[in-house]
Amino acid sequence: MRKRNNPEDSGTLLDRRDPDLKQRDRQGPGGEAGGMGKPFSRLGLVGKMKRMILWLLVVYVSIPFIVKLCPSIQAKLVFLNFMRMPDFIDLKRPLDQGLNHTHNFYLEPETGLKIGVWHTVPAQMWREAQGKRGDWYDSTFSSTHSVILYLHGNAGTRGGDHRVQLYKVLSSLGHHVVTFDYRGWGDSDGSPSEGGMTSDALCVYDWLKQRLNDKTPLYIWGHSLGTGVATNLVRRLCDRGSPPDALILESPFTNIREEARNHPFSMVYRYLPGFDWFFLDAITANNICFASDENVNHISCPVLILHAEDDAVVPFHLGKKLYNMASQSKSLSGHKVHFVPFPSALAYRHKFIYRSPELPNILSDFFGSAPQQTDDST
Ligand SMILES: *[C@@H]1O[C@H](CO)[C@@H](O)[C@H](O)[C@H]1NC(C)=O
Repeated sequence: MRKRNNPEDSGTLLDRRDPDLKQRDRQGPGGEAGGMGKPFSRLGLVGKMKRMILWLLVVYVSIPFIVKLCPSIQAKLVFLNFMRMPDFIDLKRPLDQGLNHTHNFYLEPETGLKIGVWHTVPAQMWREAQGKRGDWYDSTFSSTHSVILYLHGNAGTRGGDHRVQLYKVLSSLGHHVVTFDYRGWGDSDGSPSEGGMTSDALCVYDWLKQRLNDKTPLYIWGHSLGTGVATNLVRRLCDRGSPPDALILESPFTNIREEARNHPFSMVYRYLPGFDWFFLDAITANNICFASDENVNHISCPVLILHAEDDAVVPFHLGKKLYNMASQSKSLSGHKVHFVPFPSALAYRHKFIYRSPELPNILSDFFGSAPQQTDDST
């Protein structure tokens, strides 16, 4: 259940308990086993087991109260922005991640608050891009190549490997990819919040819009927690009367409460009476909603949902449910709303949909353009 080496679902809650446990172990209530157990070591073992179980019980019961008293723990678990994996990536050097046609720069959504951004040009420009600076990269926006604004999920940075692999796929299909770290993530300033993530996304979007000509399509792609940011952003854009050309949601959920209830972290508490009060209300108390299920009723642009059936972090049924809501949304009627499931046998799980050899066709079908030449088409 708790895979330590997986940045998107690691068991941070349990880590700090060990010293505490040891101490209580010494004064624990299992004394009777120690007293009469000397000649019979088996009894000692039973005593130890009893003690263990008692303490697990103490821990199990105290965690909900700790969370309720310190709701900020829940915010940390939702954002996981303090987990930088791998930690040694220099975000100023996208080349280290094999991105030889990417420019790193910083934008200021608020005075004094800088966020780190990467712009990857379409792969066919990679030779031309060698040694070029920001002004050259900016000038490439004037071509007709479409632009994808990528909103990443929790944990890690814009340099995370599964993200970089997707930028490579999208750029090989002829798209610009623009991605950034929200405030509080990576080398960006500030601390995380849902409102902050959404304003950062809006800032990068507006920055792009100023540089693109009217004919250049601008798509928004969110992954995981980033799908919540994406629907917030697109709702804002639609409210102001300028929807983007399309919205792509990779492994989305309906809203953060439903996602938290279905997350592997919640497995041992999900059926506990008061789960909502202890755990979910603590998330809401931090003003974290990510209400994609509501947002789809205010969005009017083509929507594509991608979800792997074996996704353990954001379960498949949540993506399916969001799709059902989107396909019944009045604001979306008259727009394409597509859903593409990836069977478990493909093992794409939560973050490997970029590996799908079908992705180029899925995207060109959805964007309504002829498939572009790829390097590895066989
Ligand atoms: C630079 O990147 C492009 C696009 O990913 C790739 O096709 C090319 O082989 C790379 N060139 C070098 C020298 O690594």
